[in-house]
Amino acid sequence: MKIFLDSSDIQEIKPLNKSNLIDGVTTNPSLLAKQSGNFKTILKAIASEVKGPISAEVTATKFDKMIIEANILRKIAKNIIIKIPLTDDGLLACNYLAKKKIKTNVTLCFSPSQAILAAKAGATYVSPFMGRLDDIGESGIELIRNIKTIYQNYNFKTQILAASIRSAEHVTEVAKIGTDVVTLPPKIFKQLIKHELTDQGLEMFLSDWKKSGKQIS
Ligand code: E4P
Repeated sequence: MKIFLDSSDIQEIKPLNKSNLIDGVTTNPSLLAKQSGNFKTILKAIASEVKGPISAEVTATKFDKMIIEANILRKIAKNIIIKIPLTDDGLLACNYLAKKKIKTNVTLCFSPSQAILAAKAGATYVSPFMGRLDDIGESGIELIRNIKTIYQNYNFKTQILAASIRSAEHVTEVAKIGTDVVTLPPKIFKQLIKHELTDQGLEMFLSDWKKSGKQIS
């Protein structure tokens, strides 16, 4: 399972990328809007820090303008991939870019039927939003499970990128289903490594070792 960071903050991304566990980054217009400075400079910095795919989203809603924006975004760095909303025009744009072998991430997916269309349009990734679905009393995990079953049934090549992740438990559940990628807010990425018993256990090991006076040398 690949791990992407869901962030547009280079200061947050840099230290976490030192772990060598980060395979890519997803940005969105809301995340980018929070950062001060030119969005191209920000995306360029992220794309040079993390070597994997960096999703940059079009903000146009009509096909022609989406393609113009996609071409602008692509020029920022070689590893930028184009994030497109799951709308009529978005699917057309996805299909157009797929035919040109340009990688896409079809975002704002909330139903299995939308995911089917994204796959048929040739999306490289589809991003089902788990947390936002949970927020309205539906199940993000069920959505991922359904998409996985459907994609396997038809051998669709589109990768499932579980998004809007709110907890470490979300990560475990989508991993059990076999999702291809999870995109994690930095806070959740940090939570994955933590366990109270790891900290307590280490403290005890080190204290016992110190008391013994022994040394590894
Ligand atoms: C995914 O690509 C989106 O950027 C993101 O996961 C949205 O998550 P949110 O619901 O926490 O805003």
